Amino acid sequence: MKLILLGPPGAGKGTQADYLQKKLGICKLSTGDMLRAAVASGSAIGLKAKDIMAKGQLVSDDIMITLIRERIDQSDCKPGFILDGFPRTLTQAEALDATLSVLGKHLDRVIELQVDDKKLIERITGRFSCAKCGAGYHDLFKQPKQAGICDQCGHTTFSRRDDDKAETVIKRLEAYHRQTAPLLPYYRQKSVLSSVDGMADIAEVTRQINRALELDKKIMENG
Ligand code: AP5
Ligand code: MG
Repeated sequence: MKLILLGPPGAGKGTQADYLQKKLGICKLSTGDMLRAAVASGSAIGLKAKDIMAKGQLVSDDIMITLIRERIDQSDCKPGFILDGFPRTLTQAEALDATLSVLGKHLDRVIELQVDDKKLIERITGRFSCAKCGAGYHDLFKQPKQAGICDQCGHTTFSRRDDDKAETVIKRLEAYHRQTAPLLPYYRQKSVLSSVDGMADIAEVTRQINRALELDKKIMENG
């Protein structure tokens, strides 16, 4: 299955991509995570992306398209992939279509997570993650089961993203509305867009996505 999770900053793309990756066993391509890893490693791409990300702007289409093209072509993505954070511009969407067409593949579905801007700011400013394995949490909505201990790896140190300050979040939202929202009519016209209520709680959003992908039945069958 080849999927895109589309939505504004804090909509829950990463949260739902993690779930889908576990359920479907296909690779998850989170461009924000890939860029943060590049920044942390000090690579050439990381050096170019660092200041742009800190300002809440979009990294250039050329960099992003190259990054995704190389990744989609690797063997672990052959059975399918979940794109989280890509495409973010019409140029990126068209490049993805061209890449898939060369590979003889097509997109199965684009899932839009709909959330109000006010709610997004609350979500992003409360977000933190495990400093070791990256598992995501929230001060109000998703605390670790045991306070201070990561559910997934047992680590006890957590971190917050540099671009999660309220003033940067506003810039990221502006970039979404100006540059990424035009992808909604683009995918609607191709009849691959499903919209879910991203304001609902995490489990309900997952159920709505499963319904959009017709996964509920398969998951019950496979356990
Ligand atoms: P990226 O890392 O992709 O950030 P983003 O799109 O701004 O989205 P977030 O990761 O902030 O939110 P999310 O939708 O994943 O939500 P999450 O699940 O964490 O990109 C960062 C930067 O990289 C960009 O600004 C840009 O500079 C650059 N970049 C990346 N891709 C690019 C591209 N293609 N082109 C150009 N530049 C690019 O959830 C948020 C919080 O809410 C969590 O704490 C979670 O626990 C909680 N939560 C989730 N769902 C719910 C729910 N239903 N109810 C309550 N709480 C919830
Ligand atoms: Mg994310």
